[in-house]
Amino acid sequence: MASNGVLLLLTFIHISIGHAGFINVEVRAENVGKYGQQSLLECVYKPSEEAEDGQLIWVHWKKEGGEDILFFHKGDTTAESRYSFAEPSWNTTNRNVSLLITKTSVKDEGEYTCEMETERGHGMKETRLRVTAKYNKPAIKFDPRTRTLICESDSGYPEGQLRWFEEFGTEWTKSAQMEANKTESGLFNLSSKMTLKDGSTFSSYTCKVFNVSGGKEEEATYPVPEAVKKARAQEKEVDHTTKVVAPLLVIGSLIVGLLLLMLLLYKRRSQLVRRFSTRPLIMGDHQRVDTSDSPVEQGEDQSCPDSPA
Ligand SMILES: *[C@@H]1O[C@H](CO)[C@@H](O)[C@H](O)[C@H]1NC(C)=O
Ligand SMILES: *[C@@H]1O[C@H](CO)[C@@H](O)[C@H](O)[C@H]1NC(C)=O
Ligand SMILES: *[C@@H]1O[C@H](CO)[C@@H](O)[C@H](O)[C@H]1NC(C)=O
Ligand SMILES: *[C@@H]1O[C@H](CO)[C@@H](O)[C@H](O)[C@H]1NC(C)=O
Ligand SMILES: *[C@@H]1O[C@H](CO)[C@@H](O)[C@H](O)[C@H]1NC(C)=O
Repeated sequence: MASNGVLLLLTFIHISIGHAGFINVEVRAENVGKYGQQSLLECVYKPSEEAEDGQLIWVHWKKEGGEDILFFHKGDTTAESRYSFAEPSWNTTNRNVSLLITKTSVKDEGEYTCEMETERGHGMKETRLRVTAKYNKPAIKFDPRTRTLICESDSGYPEGQLRWFEEFGTEWTKSAQMEANKTESGLFNLSSKMTLKDGSTFSSYTCKVFNVSGGKEEEATYPVPEAVKKARAQEKEVDHTTKVVAPLLVIGSLIVGLLLLMLLLYKRRSQLVRRFSTRPLIMGDHQRVDTSDSPVEQGEDQSCPDSPA
């Protein structure tokens, strides 16, 4: 008796499932929306054969966190202002219940649920919206006081990167500092500062903005002004001159010094020569006088080997 009951129950369950069928929901795992434009969240349902004849009862679009976005029930659609069915003049015979979002904002990024019920079953699937915003063409400024190049690119999403290159394509980003500021609308303003090295002689620098996946979006090139280059060249020239002139000055002063010394020596010699010609007479007299008359001077004279003992 009990086994009969179980059999009956199983048969009932089987019949119910067979009768209800199921609803297959197809969504894209990830949809990409552009900031400020329309975004499409695809969702199409396909009832199984058994559920084919079931009329649609309701459709519900929900955003993660329980926010209701769009609700269709008994012929009426209730939706927040920026949301609608994507299919123009959609009705219950249309199984494409995709959602259209106008004026996409950064806040629209996230998980969504597409859910429906027909007389023959229930279906539900999650889908995701990713938002992107292209960065503006960078603007480059130069601060001559600090010799710093400043590159700015605004209103992009998600957070990207600014990179520097010199005219021949070598990257200089490591010498730069980048900053990202979030704006009220959730977008990012990027700014990168690079101070020119004293030795740098490149005539232009390029600042490129890359998106989060490393794709280049925009770029701008800054031609280093002639004045800046000239100032740098002059600095170098001064440097160069001091390098050349300094040894010359040393050599020059050495020569002058030598000449002066020679002149002095010559003068001295001529004096000596003049003195020498008169000296023996005086000296002879003097010596004679000294040795004979002064014992003190005599002692002094003893140091001289020439003097008589
Ligand atoms: C659903 O409708 C949208 C809007 O008309 C359309 O872009 C999309 O291709 C449709 N999807 C399918 C699977 O038909
Ligand atoms: C639903 O829309 C389709 C095509 O847009 C149209 O042919 C059909 O008559 C509409 N059905 C109802 C019940 O409004
Ligand atoms: C970002 O850039 C925009 C446009 O240049 C500007 O209006 C805004 O004030 C900036 N916001 C921040 C937070 O830097
Ligand atoms: C970011 O914000 C700081 C502080 O408010 C400001 O000094 C800086 O200039 C901003 N940078 C950008 C790229 O807007
Ligand atoms: C980044 O840029 C590349 C190339 O332009 C593009 O294919 C890609 O979709 C962009 N990615 C994002 C997240 O914007």
